[in-house]
Amino acid sequence: MARRSETTLPTFLLLSLLLLFSSVSGRPPFACDPKNPATRGYKFCRVRVPLHVRVRDLIGRLTLQEKIRLLVNNAAAVPRLGIQGYEWWSEALHGVSNVGPGTKFGDGFLGATMFPQVITTAASFNQSLWQQIGQVVSDEARAMYNGGSAGLTFWSPNVNIFRDPRWGRGQETPGEDPFLAGKYAASYVKGLQGTSGNRLKVAACCKHYTAYDLDNWNGVDRYHFNAKVSKQDLKDTYDVPFKSCVVEGNVASVMCSYNQVNGKPTCADPDLLKGTIRGQWHLNGYIVSDCDSVGVLYDNQHYTKTPEEAAAATIKAGLDLDCGPFLAVHTESAVKGGLLVEEDVNMALANTLTVQMRLGMFDGEPSAQPFGNLGPRDVCSAANNQLALDAARQGIVLLQNRPGALPLSVARHRTIAVIGPNSDVTVTMIGNYAGVACGYTTPLQGIARYSRTLHENACADVSCGGAQRFGAAEAIARQADATVLVMGLDQSIEAEFRDRAGLLLPGHQQELISRVARVSKGPTILVLMSGSPIDVTFAKNDPRISAIVWAGYPGQNGGTAIADVIFGQTNPHGKLPMTWYPQDYLAKVPMTDMGMRPDPARGYPGRTYRFYKGPVVFPFGFGLSYTKFATSLSELAPRKVNVPFSTLTALQQNTTSSASSSSPPPPLLGSSQAIRTIHSNCESDAMSLDLDVDVHNAGGVDGTHTMLVFSSPPKQGGEWSMEKQLIGFEKVELAAGSRKRVRVNVRVCKHLSVVDRNGIRRIPFGQHHVHIGELKHPISVQLSKLGVN
Ligand SMILES: *[C@@H]1O[C@H](CO)[C@@H](O)[C@H](O)[C@H]1NC(C)=O
Ligand SMILES: *[C@@H]1O[C@H](CO)[C@@H](O)[C@H](O)[C@H]1NC(C)=O
Repeated sequence: MARRSETTLPTFLLLSLLLLFSSVSGRPPFACDPKNPATRGYKFCRVRVPLHVRVRDLIGRLTLQEKIRLLVNNAAAVPRLGIQGYEWWSEALHGVSNVGPGTKFGDGFLGATMFPQVITTAASFNQSLWQQIGQVVSDEARAMYNGGSAGLTFWSPNVNIFRDPRWGRGQETPGEDPFLAGKYAASYVKGLQGTSGNRLKVAACCKHYTAYDLDNWNGVDRYHFNAKVSKQDLKDTYDVPFKSCVVEGNVASVMCSYNQVNGKPTCADPDLLKGTIRGQWHLNGYIVSDCDSVGVLYDNQHYTKTPEEAAAATIKAGLDLDCGPFLAVHTESAVKGGLLVEEDVNMALANTLTVQMRLGMFDGEPSAQPFGNLGPRDVCSAANNQLALDAARQGIVLLQNRPGALPLSVARHRTIAVIGPNSDVTVTMIGNYAGVACGYTTPLQGIARYSRTLHENACADVSCGGAQRFGAAEAIARQADATVLVMGLDQSIEAEFRDRAGLLLPGHQQELISRVARVSKGPTILVLMSGSPIDVTFAKNDPRISAIVWAGYPGQNGGTAIADVIFGQTNPHGKLPMTWYPQDYLAKVPMTDMGMRPDPARGYPGRTYRFYKGPVVFPFGFGLSYTKFATSLSELAPRKVNVPFSTLTALQQNTTSSASSSSPPPPLLGSSQAIRTIHSNCESDAMSLDLDVDVHNAGGVDGTHTMLVFSSPPKQGGEWSMEKQLIGFEKVELAAGSRKRVRVNVRVCKHLSVVDRNGIRRIPFGQHHVHIGELKHPISVQLSKLGVN
């Protein structure tokens, strides 16, 4: 039935008023309560003593039984030392979430700001936005901690590569590109943790290490999945965001995953945990298991014969904390049985206790500490709500716009038919790993701020099982000046433990869209909500469909942002963070195949824009604007790099002297095709070049250009077989008609290197290219003349 909607006062305003006047009881100190006379005698309570000394002092006072009860997320109190129990598991993927038991809404905190789902925010390609969201989320988190409603350890973000378009949790990630995911990880983590030295505002966690990106597909689930990953793919794809999170973002925690990698559960693999995360990347923090994953590797994967062996294997591999009860139950008998020594347990505790001390949990009264002043008025504030709106505007991607279609005009489009199962939704807009939102503006409410609306859901839900109400939808489309269809997916189609079976719109959605478009009086605008790509080839090819907009899951203010884009209040500048494949891509790609590179011998097409060359519906990085941008490169842009001489002499000596098969791979590969980055003088000036790019807004409206910079290696000797890779991105705000010069820095070791089959990073010699939009700039990388003679 068609009805006119009314504009309603946003509920968040009411909610913030409520919050302002509700009183919240402060949290008692976690430990080292100044009112407890005993604490004065404890060295671990003295703020001026160096952290590692405090940690050692505390560990020295604990019995083995007490220590073991601290190895799990639900850490027990130690009343004898004035230490309370602590729940480690809280989540804050895109707003404070109540997915973990550490955080609860109600009791003074009725909601929190729900930002767009991460895949949407990633589409902004805006690092300062990601960091700012992290700052606001941690303000709200600290406020809730102070009020006794949340913990301080948040197991976010999820930075696994969005490898397969069917993955139900792809929505939680920053997309398919390792460089983008790495930048997102570092920015969001800095926002959450703060950047004031060793002190932590809250502790973030990059998860799930590693090669975890399958939930439940075709009879294979994450608890039993053995991901077979090549050294090459691990190094240049799966590990990249985690490395950036630890090295650049300085994250306080990494979570290992449920799955096995090459036959070993990640949480019991010393090469991954002690070797890579701690040894190579120098994690300053703790390693936590995924929830019940230690139990899973014993019970489901039968990786060890006894539970004690499982406990010993994980702790010895470098696991510090178990999300789940397993280690609390089985570690004592593992120590008694000689599988583990108490010192192994001490090392795990040192890592978790150090993080708690960095958070100020052993510094006494929370209200007297930095962030102690944050309270209810800092949650769901008008400023935070505005940032959620801004994030949605920045993340929306314009995929198609036939001439004259968008933006709609308030003067000409006075009545809008708003149709579809996602047209008036609330919780759908925040996706998974969310909390309780402060309030919502639905798409229908957003559009009603601009025009009169006629509304019809047309399907009961996104599964869209029947066409009974399609006639009613056609009827309002015939009357209105323009039609907006809000379609797509929700958590019933894609979610944790729910991978998609196909890429098409569910049920009768496609039929509804085509039928409505055929009869619409004005332009038909298709708005898609989803976390993963949808094959909408039919809509792309239908001349009756005027425009296509991808809104992702746009957060609590998604409806306002969608309307702002449709009516041109916002000139869109989001770009797709993942490839939109056609449905028939799936037939050639088992979800269990971790290979990134194509394998023509078995008809395997490869994955993501970096390796896959086949047809796409929309490519990675795609997104339109209401204006036109032109980019050009300065004539003086450098075209040549010489690898410095001194390095090469040493290198050639080393090459000739290493002949045995047990020695590491030679620094030069094949006939002098590529040099190992560790053998080149990466920091020298010769190994860095600047490209000056002129960006011109050649259209009629102000806009922001999201400039993506890619590099591609020489084609010969293509053991790396990479099409191109993202090496940078810049946002350039330009008034209509204006120009700006942007400097792009290309570092040879970082940006022109590739990874060989042994997992070794190398710089190939020969003709590389840097791609910026349509521009393709050659850069020749050569041995220095002096070095070759
Ligand atoms: C990036 O995001 C920040 C924070 O929302 C915003 O102030 C800034 O304008 C954005 N940059 C561009 C170029 O849009
Ligand atoms: C050459 O080998 C020596 C000894 O293994 C090593 O210390 C040195 O760093 C190597 N030089 C280069 C350029 O690889």
